[in-house]
Amino acid sequence: MSTSELLHIRDIGVRFGGLVAVDGVSFDVKDGELVGLLGPNGAGKTTLLRLIAGVVTPTTGEIHFRHERLNRLSAAARARRGIGLSHQIVRPFRSMTMLENVILAAGSEITSSPWRAMATLDRTHLRERALECLRMVDIADLADKMPSTQPLGVLKRLEVARALAMRPQMLLLDEPLAGLGHSEAVKLADLIRDLNRTGVTIVLIEHNIAEVMRICPRIVVLDNGHKIADGPSVAVMEDPAVVEAYLGEGASHA
Ligand SMILES: Nc1ncnc2c1ncn2[C@@H]1O[C@H](COP(=O)(O)OP(=O)(O)OP(=O)(O)O)[C@@H](O)[C@H]1O
Ligand SMILES: [Mg+2]
Repeated sequence: MSTSELLHIRDIGVRFGGLVAVDGVSFDVKDGELVGLLGPNGAGKTTLLRLIAGVVTPTTGEIHFRHERLNRLSAAARARRGIGLSHQIVRPFRSMTMLENVILAAGSEITSSPWRAMATLDRTHLRERALECLRMVDIADLADKMPSTQPLGVLKRLEVARALAMRPQMLLLDEPLAGLGHSEAVKLADLIRDLNRTGVTIVLIEHNIAEVMRICPRIVVLDNGHKIADGPSVAVMEDPAVVEAYLGEGASHA
């Protein structure tokens, strides 16, 4: 493991009943990288991020973050070590405003009980931190709105803001551009690149290949639970195995 290596994954795999969702995947992420994670539907992308974040327990393999073995650590413990996950399926608390949803996440940076954080810690500090995160994803003007009144594109950004609230060193983004129109997607992709430039290491799952190629210098591709390519974006997208994986899927993702 070299010193600039932040994430080190070896032969990671998970089986759900008879289905091997991720099968012997190995790769490293260096401190400061912005890596695109691509692959057809069901390739195992979300499952791989969930393995890293500790939401899913691997049946094989090793994960190290900053030279520490993660396998036995809970998702909350990994979050406190700097791994932030923004989920593909957004599930904000419907009874809270957009801002309160982020305050809750900001609170869990400080204690393992976000509810206690909400009740006892300096609310002004948390509120400021949460507002700053909403600003980072350009939805600060919607802070007092209820999530149920907002379109998916806004909720996806709220999900990114919640992940940012924990001040992650590495951000795992699961399809943050889904549900956005073209210009909104370009704006959020720019924002993800800017976040990366401030020093946050990012692994980005996206079906919007044009935006991934625009902002990610490196791409990893999964297919059927296997890693089929890993390298500079243009070379990876020209790789016959990658072209084949996408052609096999049909035209469901332009
Ligand atoms: N908790 C689970 N239990 C059973 N099967 C699962 C579970 N999570 C994922 N799977 C299966 O594992 C495979 C990989 O799913 P995953 O969600 O990781 O794919 P993905 O690459 O993120 O796909 P998409 O692009 O559609 O989001 C799929 O066949 C899926 O049905
Ligand atoms: Mg997925």
